[in-house]
Amino acid sequence: MIKKIGRNFILETKNTIYIFKLLPNGYLGHLYYGDRFDEKIFQNIKSNIRRTGNTVEYSDDFPYSLEDIPLEYSTYGKGDIKEPLIVIRNYDGSNTSDFIYDSYEIVKEKSKLETLPSSYNCDEQLIINLVDKYYNLKLQLFYSIFYESNVIVKSCKLVNNSDKTIKIEKFNSSLIDMHNKTFTITSFFGNWGNEMNKHQIKLTAGKYVISSYTGSSSNRNNPFFMLSDDDTSENKGECYGFNLVYSGNHYSSIETTQLQRTRIVQGINSENFEFEINPNEDFETPEAVLTFSSCGFNGISKNMHYFINNHIIRENFKNKIRPVLLNSWEAFYFFFTEEGLLELAEKGQEVGVELFVLDDGWFGNRKNDQSSLGDWYVNQDKLPNGLNGLCNEINALGLKFGLWVEPEMVNVNSDLYRVHPNWAMNINNKKHSEGRNQRILDIINPEVSEYILNSLKRVFNSCNISYVKWDFNRIFSDVYSPYLKDRQKETSHRYYMSLYKIMDTLVNEYPDILFEGCAGGGNRFDLGILCYFPQIWASDKTDALDRLMIQNGYSYGYPLSSYTCHVSICPNHLTRRTLPLKTRFDVACFGNLGYELNLNLLDESELEEIKKQIEFYKKHRELIQFGQFEREEYENGIKWSILKEDQKIEMIYHNDTQTTEIRLNGEKYE
Ligand code: DGJ
Repeated sequence: MIKKIGRNFILETKNTIYIFKLLPNGYLGHLYYGDRFDEKIFQNIKSNIRRTGNTVEYSDDFPYSLEDIPLEYSTYGKGDIKEPLIVIRNYDGSNTSDFIYDSYEIVKEKSKLETLPSSYNCDEQLIINLVDKYYNLKLQLFYSIFYESNVIVKSCKLVNNSDKTIKIEKFNSSLIDMHNKTFTITSFFGNWGNEMNKHQIKLTAGKYVISSYTGSSSNRNNPFFMLSDDDTSENKGECYGFNLVYSGNHYSSIETTQLQRTRIVQGINSENFEFEINPNEDFETPEAVLTFSSCGFNGISKNMHYFINNHIIRENFKNKIRPVLLNSWEAFYFFFTEEGLLELAEKGQEVGVELFVLDDGWFGNRKNDQSSLGDWYVNQDKLPNGLNGLCNEINALGLKFGLWVEPEMVNVNSDLYRVHPNWAMNINNKKHSEGRNQRILDIINPEVSEYILNSLKRVFNSCNISYVKWDFNRIFSDVYSPYLKDRQKETSHRYYMSLYKIMDTLVNEYPDILFEGCAGGGNRFDLGILCYFPQIWASDKTDALDRLMIQNGYSYGYPLSSYTCHVSICPNHLTRRTLPLKTRFDVACFGNLGYELNLNLLDESELEEIKKQIEFYKKHRELIQFGQFEREEYENGIKWSILKEDQKIEMIYHNDTQTTEIRLNGEKYE
């Protein structure tokens, strides 16, 4: 699957091929990425070097400009002026690098990244070693092949073999130059309660950037995007898909060059980023995920869904059906009693839910969103029998018990902040701009991570917890780590290195807890989180018609088993719209189903309807959660279908009547 033929490196997956070549000057030239080998490729290979004027020649014995050659990596200073893979501030102050090929290796098993989450179980990995001609630095390029998924995962590592300290100012995970080709981009933007809006634009010149600077992968621009031919549709046409295994500030740029070629880079956002690398230290980038399909956008979804279900979701939850849950948030918000929770759980049990989730409000002195984050001990006024007492009662009903936490945060009005004000991201003696009345903890400080781990372990050990919803409700401001002192530009990235360590420890110590990611809905919906938490709360918007579009957006890059969808009360708490219970179910059914409403406010016929919905869902959830999903072209709305063996389920939304229907093997489900 990975071969070196002559000077060519050839990487093959089931339906795709990726080729690059060792050039005479020691650089690597990109030759082709797309459908498996055919005539077309040879032509591309011949025409890949062009000479233009007003450029810089690399050297006397290689009198071409790096600007004119499709490359596999690039730096500043030797003629290529486009977006580089890496920018290093050398010890002498220069930012010119000149990496040339040294050696390669093909390995069967790919090793895990040491500081970041990784995909697993690749078929083969190619490691290219490059060395800088002048500065004793090693740059490694990693390419992992996931044959069945048609995915190639790329990442890089810089090793400082010199005796001087250097600084990395920019380090992308992947760079690829597509020659003689421009694209239409499909990306997904949004905001709170309005995630994953599909946006398409034809790229003809200049640079198009998809990035986040919220301190999370963000709902503003999800890191997943696609590049296609102009006429590519759901089922036809060529398309490339891209994503990043990272939850922090990300950056992708798609640059249409002066030669009408396209350079694509993906990686950590270099805004306010710099990383010091001392002698013998190294730095690794997050993994970039690339796929190609000639079967339209559905082809990309198929590849990405397969890849995520089999190589991102951790083994314990791989292809494992997800429970139907009942969440207390929209039923009670902060205002609940043990008795009220148990009444709700009982009703849940009667209609068939399997897991009861106690959301925000159970800890410290939490009465609203202004206090107690950080104080992870039970609120005895609300829960006089503690978490254990409540959990035992829930378990006695035959339901599993789940809990909400927001461990990365602290309220100024909390015992934790009163004792450790310097554990929060604060700039000394400066006023902080608050988000939801809370601040972000400086988890780079090992004492703080230790506190979070110990607090959570105490909670998780206190009762029989099966599920944890992990929230993150604000974006970064006044970014400053009191712990890092004079290395502040490392804050955003080091934050995620620490967070991943915490998550890794917890999922290893509690392998059977189902963790659900959340960031006020989808403000951190990405492959980094999915490596630890198999599912994510997709959005706080539960209005079925708005939710349709949100789920439709996610479906392009993420499998249905990765997002949770709840049926809530009407009028909807955000939109005030009233929709039939059937519509709310039909939409929520296409994902991991949950209910988030006070069932005690419903009448008998509504409860009976919910009972039937849950029965139906349980019967077909394996098909829904893990079957092959497709979006079908439908002029009057949206049509989703899922296939598994001889089973087919469809959800159709008709724009004109604003109604939904579900069909099972062609038969209408009423
Ligand atoms: C935001 C989440 O998206 C909601 O579902 C809920 O858990 C609240 N936070 C609780 O504060």
